[in-house]
Amino acid sequence: MSLPVPAVLEPGGDAVTVLYIVAFSMFIIGIRRGTHPRTAKHGNLLAAGGMAVAVIATLLLDGIGNWGLIVLGLAIGGSIGVIASIRVQMTQMPQMVALYNGVGGGAVALIAWSELRHGLALGGDFPLDELVPILFAVVVGSISFWGSNIAFAKLQDLIPTRPLMLPGQQVLNAVLLIGILAACIALGIDHDDAPSEGLFIAVLIAAGLLGNLVVLPIGGADMPVVIALLNAFTGLSAAAAGFALDNVALIVAGTLVGSSGTILTLAMATAMNRSVANILFAGFGGGPAGGAAARGEERPHTSIGAQDAAIKLAYADSVVIVPGYGLAVAQAQHAVKEMADELEKRGVTVNYAIHPVAGRMPGHMNVLLAEADVPYEKLREMEDINPELPRTDVAVVIGANDVTNPAAKNDPDSPIAGMPIIEVDEAQQVIVIKRSLSPGFAGIDNDLFYEENTDMLFADAKQAAAEIAAEVQEL
Ligand code: TAP
Repeated sequence: MSLPVPAVLEPGGDAVTVLYIVAFSMFIIGIRRGTHPRTAKHGNLLAAGGMAVAVIATLLLDGIGNWGLIVLGLAIGGSIGVIASIRVQMTQMPQMVALYNGVGGGAVALIAWSELRHGLALGGDFPLDELVPILFAVVVGSISFWGSNIAFAKLQDLIPTRPLMLPGQQVLNAVLLIGILAACIALGIDHDDAPSEGLFIAVLIAAGLLGNLVVLPIGGADMPVVIALLNAFTGLSAAAAGFALDNVALIVAGTLVGSSGTILTLAMATAMNRSVANILFAGFGGGPAGGAAARGEERPHTSIGAQDAAIKLAYADSVVIVPGYGLAVAQAQHAVKEMADELEKRGVTVNYAIHPVAGRMPGHMNVLLAEADVPYEKLREMEDINPELPRTDVAVVIGANDVTNPAAKNDPDSPIAGMPIIEVDEAQQVIVIKRSLSPGFAGIDNDLFYEENTDMLFADAKQAAAEIAAEVQEL
């Protein structure tokens, strides 16, 4: 007795299915490899290769035609993508992701519209199992497109980054949401007749308006979390479009994007000790800067220069560098690496403490330090480095603020209460390099600056690191 051979393995069998399975494997292994800085680049290439395989497989499907349009689309999209990726600065990466994500959501909404038209052209009963995913795809895809555009505009400073709230906005949002749901139910009830295309377009527009209105009141610095959330939305809408089109590749890729976007959103919210609802609705980060410095008060603190800092660091056994948003602003990664090299030449052990939400995007510090060739094994995660800080001679905080603020663990009323921090206050000595006593993203004073074992070095991070490196060389 011989076992039946699956159709996909028969000579001349379904090559598209085999190619899709290859593509899915590449997506999954690529995402897995993306979880470590050492393998992330390869993982990214593998997942991109998987997408190329999926696109080729889709082009081999029966019924694909209009090659002129397809080639034109590939040429235009490919050229824009390549040029934008080459030109984009590392600090502009969040807005680039927002833009790409938005385009994905917009494409899904348009595909849903075109599927509706296709179904209507066939006439007769419009099956509910096709109409429901089409409606889901158009609503979520449209929200994602417009919401991502607002996120892009805020990050690119095209519109004010502070939370923008219209009068009665919550009511307007609720009315829009209820209207969209009611219209979708009406379209569903109509499925055995011809669902109205006019009402469908109204849903598309209302969902776009809702996408704008939901993202406008969110502060610019929370945009990375919003982008991750909208990314999850785009993935889910693509998966829904996959059900409507009966395309398994879209279902799998959309589900992967949806689930990884959701995991990333939750991981960022947890690292800030804020709920996703608080991020979406609290208008955080938009108020005037708080803290003693903002009120013009001077609390006693110790200020030192680069030479003093160099002496403290050069005669230490162990140094932990804590980078933050200011390091990215100053583009200080190369200067910091040179400073660390000089210290290591003298036998000082140097490590880097990476907070999961340091900077303004996931992995921000890892990317910057990797760019400066800092060895991966020196980048230590918060949970891993914190127990070592009491035994560390000097912690150097470079352009970081909130992620080191002891108020998170000492002051239950602080806006960042409960947020896990890099516990530099436990180190023997602390040097904080920043330009002033101004607060960071959370807009609150940092008690670390006024502690007895803290010295403030007021300077641009790049300039200070370069000066310290030069001073250490002279010692
Ligand atoms: P922040 O608390 O925002 O502090 C950054 C500090 O950098 C500022 O206090 C600023 O002080 C300093 N700075 C700016 N330019 C500088 C320069 N050229 N040279 C030296 N210092 C400079 O940054 P953080 O500690 O990295 O914390 C990140 C914050 O962003 C957290 O509150 C986090 O919740 C939030 N957030 C993060 C993410 C992700 S995914 N990373 C997403 C959303 C929100 P001066 O002006 O005095 O120099």
